Amino acid sequence: MRQILLIFSFVLIGCHNNDEPSLKQLRKPSLSEDLTGSQLYIKHCAICHQKDAKGIIGVFPPIKDSDYFLEDPKRAIHNILFGQSETIVVNGETYKTMMPPVKISDKEVVNVVNYLLNEVNQVDYKINIEDVESVRQHQ
Ligand code: HEC
Repeated sequence: MRQILLIFSFVLIGCHNNDEPSLKQLRKPSLSEDLTGSQLYIKHCAICHQKDAKGIIGVFPPIKDSDYFLEDPKRAIHNILFGQSETIVVNGETYKTMMPPVKISDKEVVNVVNYLLNEVNQVDYKINIEDVESVRQHQ
C-alpha cells in the first residue's frame, strides 16, 4: 500500500513539474512591455515600413523624414491603435493603402512613437501615456 502511495505521489510531483513551462509561457506577453522602442519597431512595424523606416514608395509610407508623421506625431497613436485606410499624402506621394491596428499596450505605443521621433527622426519631442489614453477614449 505504502509503495502505491509513493508511486502516486511521484506521479503527482511529475504532473506538477509538467505544469511549470506552460505557466511560464502564460507570463510571457507581459515581458514584451520591456522591449525598447527600437525592438518594438522591428517586431511590429518594420515588416511594412521597412527596417530603415523609409517605407516602400506608393505602398508603405516612410516614417523617417515623413512630413505627415512630423506634422502631428499624435496622429500616429491613432494609426497604431485603430489602423488607417484613408487616402493620405506623405512627402508629396499619395497612399491609398491600409494599415491594420497594431495590438500593443499603451506603454509600448509611447515607446515606439518616441523611438521614431527621437532616434529615427532626431526630433526633440516626446508623447506620453496620457496622450495615448486620450486618443483611446476620444477615438
Ligand atoms: C501591415 C503593414 C503595416 C504595419 C505592420 C504598420 N503599418 Fe503603419 N502604415 C501602413 C500603411 C499601408 C499606411 C498608409 C495607410 C493609408 O494609406 O492611409 C501606414 C501609415 C502609417 C503612418 C502615417 C503615415 C506616415 O508614414 O507618416 C504612421 C506614422 C505609421 N503607419 C506608423 C506605424 C507604426 C509605428 C507601426 C508599428 C507599431 C506601423 N505603422 C505598423 C502599413 C503598416
